[in-house]
Amino acid sequence: MSESPVPTARGVAVSLEKVRKVYEPNRIVVEGMDLQVNAGEFLAILGPSGCGKSTLLRIIARLLEPDSGTLSITPDNPFQTAYVFQDAHLLPWRSVLDNAALPLELMGIDRTAREAKARAALALVGLMDTESLYPAQLSGGMKMRVSLARALATEPRLLLLDEPFAALDEVNRFHLDVALRQLWQWHGMTVIFVTHSISEAAFLANRAVVLTRRKCQIKLDRQLDLPLERYASFRTDPALAAEISHLLEAMEEE
Ligand SMILES: Nc1ncnc2c1ncn2[C@@H]1O[C@H](COP(=O)(O)OP(=O)(O)OP(=O)(O)O)[C@@H](O)[C@H]1O
Ligand SMILES: [Mg+2]
Repeated sequence: MSESPVPTARGVAVSLEKVRKVYEPNRIVVEGMDLQVNAGEFLAILGPSGCGKSTLLRIIARLLEPDSGTLSITPDNPFQTAYVFQDAHLLPWRSVLDNAALPLELMGIDRTAREAKARAALALVGLMDTESLYPAQLSGGMKMRVSLARALATEPRLLLLDEPFAALDEVNRFHLDVALRQLWQWHGMTVIFVTHSISEAAFLANRAVVLTRRKCQIKLDRQLDLPLERYASFRTDPALAAEISHLLEAMEEE
């Protein structure tokens, strides 16, 4: 029943040691954070609103410096990390295709190659007919899907997602959960996925971490005893329900 290792794993390992982050004037958000994420792992991070999940993800993405402690990523190469923010952050003057291709453009990839990769990524998120539209013509959920395609187009070795599907209706969200899980199986990148949804965390991840409200400390770190293949029908599987109740119990503990 347990997962077998992912055969094509090309992800990176992430290690946080004694990480601390304080926002001015004196708000300790993260303290004493030790977290080791294996190459090719799919980790879900759960915790109450304001506990520091986005802060932690931004530290891993090197968008934010910790005040002390260390972050190491192995191997560590440029252009291997993609980050999907809570908001879509699209450029309004660029079409869907040009938004999805932007990181590839910044990497110096020629137009034909970058557009082919961006189109393939848009197809993965169900947006193949929208490439010439502009962000103002899209719904909130479509914008988030473009944002996800922009990340996938770079074929990242570390994919960091901060509640990427929170703005989507449940049907779209379920489709994207399945698509993301399949992508992870094919590519074996390391995924760190922040979500408020316990059921989404259990459906997607092979390991889940639950954080405390204060100082962002780990109160549960659990390998999910669930199969590798997870299709839509898996949502009603009793094994999934059992994992959800473990996570729920940890979330409810004060
Ligand atoms: N730039 C900042 N300056 C000061 N305080 C901040 C800053 N960014 C976040 N905070 C505070 O740090 C805490 C953690 O914020 P963070 O956004 O990491 O939480 P979160 O767990 O992602 O919350 P949510 O689930 O609502 O997205 C919050 O109390 C927030 O108000
Ligand atoms: Mg957040």
